[in-house]
Amino acid sequence: MEVVALLCVAVAVLTWGFLRVRDLAERMRSPEQAGLPGAGSRALLVIAHPDDEAMFFAPTVLGLARLEQRVFLLCFSTGNYYNQGEIRKKELLQSCDVLGIPPPNVTIIDNSEFPDDPGVQWDTEHVASTLLQHIKVNDINLVVTFDAEGVTGHNNHIALYKAVRALHSEGKLPKGCSVLTLQSVNVLRKYLYFLDLPWSLLSPQDVFFMLTSQEVARAKKAMSCHHSQLLWFRRLYIIFSRYMRINSLQFL
Ligand SMILES: *[C@@H]1O[C@H](CO)[C@@H](O)[C@H](O)[C@H]1NC(C)=O
Ligand SMILES: [Zn+2]
Repeated sequence: MEVVALLCVAVAVLTWGFLRVRDLAERMRSPEQAGLPGAGSRALLVIAHPDDEAMFFAPTVLGLARLEQRVFLLCFSTGNYYNQGEIRKKELLQSCDVLGIPPPNVTIIDNSEFPDDPGVQWDTEHVASTLLQHIKVNDINLVVTFDAEGVTGHNNHIALYKAVRALHSEGKLPKGCSVLTLQSVNVLRKYLYFLDLPWSLLSPQDVFFMLTSQEVARAKKAMSCHHSQLLWFRRLYIIFSRYMRINSLQFL
């Protein structure tokens, strides 16, 4: 009796999971269905450090490319915390190239007011005005960046969120320019992607990108461009992290 009940529950859960995945996959087939600007739109990924794009945003970059969006990248620092800024700029350009963002579409800001340093609060207004100018010059329709927790809690990541939220709430963004933020998840989910999938499917989100195994290989290749950063714990991160496979995002 109990076995039958258990089996029924298992079948129900599996069916529900299957329908949910199919529904999400269906929604992501065209940008309009996903609530994104249409194909050919101009998306801007805003990051704080070289390697953020590969460590956290690869599913979004490859997913947007799948939806035929043009992708631009703006990085607010050279990642100079250990005086490796010059090397890291080159690594970022290589990684972006692997992810399908050619060098002319990548901008790296090298400004002492935006140091790569978790102990320094970047000035929100200055970040916001720099970002707004870049959005206008490049005629951007979609901005993608970190959420309020910045995935890792790094102050520089959070500074980007604060700036974009200020632009959004003050109505300063150009008409038709929307903002997506990358959902931060708890530590367990972050490092155990195989356990994370059921959670991700249950949680509310506006946009969901999951990579195919081929695309995961590309994300790993992008990550491996960051030679100067490939310490042992990052290698483990590449193997286990959900952000190398799954991104869930929300509109502001
Ligand atoms: C790079 O930017 C140009 C416009 O400056 C755009 O036409 C092109 O599609 C972009 N490339 C990608 C891969 O998004
Ligand atoms: Zn970072």
